[in-house]
Amino acid sequence: MTVLISPSLLAADFTQLGAEIQRMEQAGADWLHLDVMDGHFVPNITFGPPLVNSVRKVTNLCLDTHLMISEPEKYIEAFVKAGSDLITVHVEAVSDLKGLLQTIRGFGIKAGVSLKPQTPLETILPFLEWCDLVLFMTVEPGFGGQAFMPEVLPKISRLAARLQNSPRAVDIQVDGGITLATAPQAINAGANVLVAGTAVFGQPDPQAIIRRLKALTPAV
Ligand code: DX5
Ligand code: ZN
Repeated sequence: MTVLISPSLLAADFTQLGAEIQRMEQAGADWLHLDVMDGHFVPNITFGPPLVNSVRKVTNLCLDTHLMISEPEKYIEAFVKAGSDLITVHVEAVSDLKGLLQTIRGFGIKAGVSLKPQTPLETILPFLEWCDLVLFMTVEPGFGGQAFMPEVLPKISRLAARLQNSPRAVDIQVDGGITLATAPQAINAGANVLVAGTAVFGQPDPQAIIRRLKALTPAV
């Protein structure tokens, strides 16, 4: 299993976005995680399609777009046009999850679903066949720099066990409080894509951190 690293732009210096993205590319990032917040689904506001469009012009990294917004169905087309390669919506924010995942895939990009820490795994199980990725929040969504919640780990393990016999690959992503100390727990539970904000941006040597995160393998 290869671990993929998706640095969260939320922890970047927003006055230097082009340079920050280049720094992550050079450091070995696989994807770039874009946290979209609307001040309604979560108590914080970040950015929308115009910024994604600008980011698209300066990088070929997979733009991993995490929509922490209410009524995400209204904005899918705008994020696709802006250049998102993967759009992840929150199960708590959607009434017709199957329809929305199909809409996202219909644009020729990947579709993901995310669960807040307290949301049961059962809410997404009926929709796995339309998901390319499941994102487990290991903090309450809204802010970077929070502490990892280990109580989410059993939920990750349960999905990983279920997917073991699945004919199709579904990525398991973890987001929130990922560091060199917590990443091994997430990987042991079955995650293969790590989002890391503060643990990589703001570090003098992000390449060293990314290399160490990517070298992690599940303990058997
Ligand atoms: C939180 C966001 C995360 C966050 C991660 O709502 O979804 O992507 O930026 O930041 P760290 O790695 O600092 O917890
Ligand atoms: Zn995120």
